[in-house]
Amino acid sequence: MMSEPDTQPCLMRSYSLIAPAKINLYLQILGDRPDGFHELVMVLQSIDLADLVTVRSRAIDGIRLHCDNPDVPTDETNLAYRAADLMIREFSDEYARFGGIEIDLHKRIPMGAGLAGGSTNAAAVLVGINMMWHLGLTQGELHDLAAMLGSDIPFCISGGTALATGRGEKLDPLPDLSNLYVVLAKYRDLPVSTPWAYKTYRQTFGHTYPTTPAAWDAAKQKAGGILSAIAHHDVKQMANLLHNDLERVVLPSYPKVQQLRDEFQRLDILGTMMSGSGSTVFALVESMAQAEQVKAQMSRATPDSNLDFWVTKFCQSGVRLSNN
Ligand code: C5P
Repeated sequence: MMSEPDTQPCLMRSYSLIAPAKINLYLQILGDRPDGFHELVMVLQSIDLADLVTVRSRAIDGIRLHCDNPDVPTDETNLAYRAADLMIREFSDEYARFGGIEIDLHKRIPMGAGLAGGSTNAAAVLVGINMMWHLGLTQGELHDLAAMLGSDIPFCISGGTALATGRGEKLDPLPDLSNLYVVLAKYRDLPVSTPWAYKTYRQTFGHTYPTTPAAWDAAKQKAGGILSAIAHHDVKQMANLLHNDLERVVLPSYPKVQQLRDEFQRLDILGTMMSGSGSTVFALVESMAQAEQVKAQMSRATPDSNLDFWVTKFCQSGVRLSNN
């Protein structure tokens, strides 16, 4: 049994963090990587839809994870659990000094949604333990730990608007986009497996992957349009250039996702796209009033008690401390 951790009153024992979701404004699959993953070019954007993650030092052995959603696993299959486990292994002296880790997840981000819900929880655990154990890790060091756990987790730490390359873990910040509003639509009983989406993409389109360095470079240029639109703060052009290669495999296999995409497309919006591997489809608009109107129009066009909507907006940060 772990001994009682030291009781210096100055050491804060609990941190509550806001862990925002993300959407993909752009997702291009370039080809295969030697590590079995895909080489990607993505533009990622944090949104205000967020989970609340609390990490606490406790006189317990190991990790205890609680979640207010009974469908979320609380064992080592949960990325937040794995993040805490990684910190315990990397910083065993601090673990011995501060004791075990209790994590509370207050979930608002849906699962299997392509919104990085699990990744952002893991990001919050890394950031929270860094503070709780006074590790003083830099953002770069946190990114390196995050990349060991999952491709989207480094972005979830820093957030905002970023170009993500490699597996998705190499980040270059992009200029802030003006505060666009986002309507998200997702069927509650319709998760999409990310490994399935990438595997199916490889099986279907692997023969088209570039094979020469020149072809590889040419493929990378495709992202130039949306990057230029973002650099010039041209929101309308950016929305015209939304792109997600995974739609090519997910939409034909999930007609209900295709239908959401088609319904959004009929409305007066800046643009619509599936996020990540789905099954969330988002629409971008310029005001809260427009977002509420689009949500109402969508609910009327696709009445289904299993269809959830969220109205949210772009946010310029990743994981951050909650004021509460
Ligand atoms: O890195 P992460 O665990 O989030 O990835 C989930 C799955 O998505 C991977 O197991 C892999 O099947 C697929 N993936 C990929 N190439 C990437 C990122 C993810 O093939 N760059």
